[in-house]
Amino acid sequence: MLARHVISSGPLVLRPPSDSDAEAITRACDDPVTARFLPLLPSPYRLSDARAYVEQARAKWEAGGAEFAITQDGQYAGSIGVRPPDRWRVAELGYLVAPWARGKGVASTAARAVADWLFDQGVRRVELEAEVENVASLRVAYKAGFREEGNRREAKLLRDGRPADLVTFGRLPGEAAPPVEPYLPFFDGGELSDGVVRLTPMTPEDAGDFHRMLADPVVAAYKVGPPSSLQDHERRCRYTGYWWVSGQRIELAVRDAGSGAFAGHVQLTQVTPALGQAMVGYSLMPGFRGKGFMTRTVRLLVDWAFERTPLHRIVAGTEAGNVASHRVLERAGFSREGVHREMFPKGGGRRVDDLAWARVRPS
Ligand SMILES: CC(C)(COP(=O)(O)OP(=O)(O)OC[C@H]1O[C@@H](n2cnc3c(N)ncnc32)[C@H](O)[C@@H]1OP(=O)(O)O)[C@@H](O)C(=O)NCCC(=O)NCCS
Repeated sequence: MLARHVISSGPLVLRPPSDSDAEAITRACDDPVTARFLPLLPSPYRLSDARAYVEQARAKWEAGGAEFAITQDGQYAGSIGVRPPDRWRVAELGYLVAPWARGKGVASTAARAVADWLFDQGVRRVELEAEVENVASLRVAYKAGFREEGNRREAKLLRDGRPADLVTFGRLPGEAAPPVEPYLPFFDGGELSDGVVRLTPMTPEDAGDFHRMLADPVVAAYKVGPPSSLQDHERRCRYTGYWWVSGQRIELAVRDAGSGAFAGHVQLTQVTPALGQAMVGYSLMPGFRGKGFMTRTVRLLVDWAFERTPLHRIVAGTEAGNVASHRVLERAGFSREGVHREMFPKGGGRRVDDLAWARVRPS
């Protein structure tokens, strides 16, 4: 049984919820972001739902779990709950923050404090899960000292019945690191532009254009790996925020800055923090080739990477015959470094060489 403590952390006080919180809880839960990421909550969410929740919170404490109202300056700012620890003394956390209190470190401070408190209560391991599309919650997990442990594909169903993938996190006593700056920060203002091209994070709305682009014979000729379906691309686009916030890769749509049309795709992948190295890869829709779009794109992204991330080397690989791609890299400041022999499988047992390129951080 967990002790019914009040927890203080920084400006926050966490205490069991009471009937006086019901009105604020209603406003926090009757919010589109809450409804999107907590599909088991009633929607619309009414005062009667909040009153029932306060009642259930009492029962949860009695069943061995915990349910706190997160408060700041005496005002309700969110909720954080703990399932009763299992027989191995493993507990799971869940949280929500009211729209008016978001983006100020409330969830990450509360999650860190509740995990520390659970360890003091004899809990051996604290877990939490977030949807791949819930970038704010993923960032909370990293900031609260949790380690990512894996993905659970289609582990949850959303309100419309669509399956959603989850990322699982765990924290053990004594291993919480202080919050760190993300290795790959998000773009200020959400996008990068030089006035001609605009780079925006890939979304599921881009999957159709991306799929059509990969079917173009010129793009298909250089694609590595098995064929992929529209469904594969939609799923991939749902991972954009997760890959970025976890420092694994950046996936961008290249747009015509004037019309906003999808012109192509560029990625920063194979991110290796120990080497300070990442690889750039790209493709353009046929109608946008021959206008310098990709040269601008690669320059824009690599300049940003050297300015805003610790990356030291951006590398690229091209087939020996891909002259258009060589020109892009040369004009974007890359130098040829060598040849990886017989890198790309071309079917029928044939393989072709990879020309290795790099641009290093300017001194
Ligand atoms: C997830 C949630 C609890 C976060 O609460 P919060 O108090 O705003 O969280 P914090 O301020 O501690 O941290 C949020 C981080 O996510 C970042 N963030 C938020 N929205 C983002 C977005 N759309 N894209 C990228 N980053 C985002 C914030 O900038 C912040 O990171 P930073 O401190 O490095 O700048 C809140 O958004 C919420 O209640 N969502 C609905 C319910 C929910 O999703 N619960 C969790 C289910 S797993």
